[in-house]
Amino acid sequence: MTVPKDKPVSLRTERAKRSGAAAETTKGPGFPATRMRRNRRTDWSRRLVRQTSLSTDDLIWPIFLIEGARARTPVAAMPGVEQLSVDLAVKAAEEAAALGIPAIALFPHIDPSLRDEAASEAVNPGNLVCRAVRAIKAAVPEIGIVCDVALDPYTTHAHDGLLIGGEIDNDRTVEILIQQALIQAEAGCDILAPSDMMDGRIGAIRAALESNGFVNTQLLAYAAKYASAFYGPFRDAVGSAGRLKGDKLSYQMDAANGDEALREVALDIAEGADMVMVKPGLAYLDIVWRVKETFRVPTFVYQVSGEYTMLVAAAERGWLDRERVILESLMAFKRAGADAILTYFAREAAKLLKR
Ligand code: PBG
Repeated sequence: MTVPKDKPVSLRTERAKRSGAAAETTKGPGFPATRMRRNRRTDWSRRLVRQTSLSTDDLIWPIFLIEGARARTPVAAMPGVEQLSVDLAVKAAEEAAALGIPAIALFPHIDPSLRDEAASEAVNPGNLVCRAVRAIKAAVPEIGIVCDVALDPYTTHAHDGLLIGGEIDNDRTVEILIQQALIQAEAGCDILAPSDMMDGRIGAIRAALESNGFVNTQLLAYAAKYASAFYGPFRDAVGSAGRLKGDKLSYQMDAANGDEALREVALDIAEGADMVMVKPGLAYLDIVWRVKETFRVPTFVYQVSGEYTMLVAAAERGWLDRERVILESLMAFKRAGADAILTYFAREAAKLLKR
């Protein structure tokens, strides 16, 4: 694995700061007293000095849902990923649990006729996501279930919030998100993951959960979520492709900003988030690192649809070694400080890690 030449130095300095040791002492004497290759010569030695580990315990597997029975539809923009009817999602959850994957994340592709301006289906306790949560909880109680809190699968315009007078209305959106969160918690969702990027929603949802008795429901805040072109294939998977009017720049973050991510994370922690997320992953590893260094809270990262598709497409052409780039990209998240990773490779990676 190659690492840019300047990186090890700055990482070592950071680590030295953390441990209180001077950066100088970790550098050691020069060549030939120091030969970096000594520790790398043998497999047993490489294993001993290995700093970061990747385990199936780090993985969350996102699953797309569709209506029907025994229905599976390939997602064209994500080769190898399928939308599953609830009965098959239960089977997938069983498989994930058997592999040791701690949690799955559910994303619905609802019937387009159910989309409306008010996102009514998002607050229907009998909607696709809630039915899937109940079925999975009944069949595989030991697996954790993560549900998105956002309106994009439910609105005609595919925005994460309500479009009122040509703008995404923050406070009226939050009112709906609270209801969406409560029905998902009621269905048995373990981790609610607001991915909408409205201001104040973590505090509002936390208060509603507490006052309704859902004191153990965890909140995973998509705290630093960037307005990214890497979400393209996902929008295909939830039926939002081609619907989105305009862009999400008024609520998702500007790719140019790093400090702003720290403010977002600070607010979400203050409002009651149990974990925070950085998204996308590979193009935002600096943000993962800064968030973990600054706050030391459980920090998750999302290897999003476009990241998945890039690797799969290159591997299909024989340009990259699929298995190795999967594990290397996941290891990069761990090295940057992530505690857990949402990845469409979760099942495959779990199998690779078993070898
Ligand atoms: C929607 C949502 C998105 C993703 C997760 N939740 C897309 C978006 O914000 O447009 C992206 C996931 C992926 O690309 O894999 N709130």
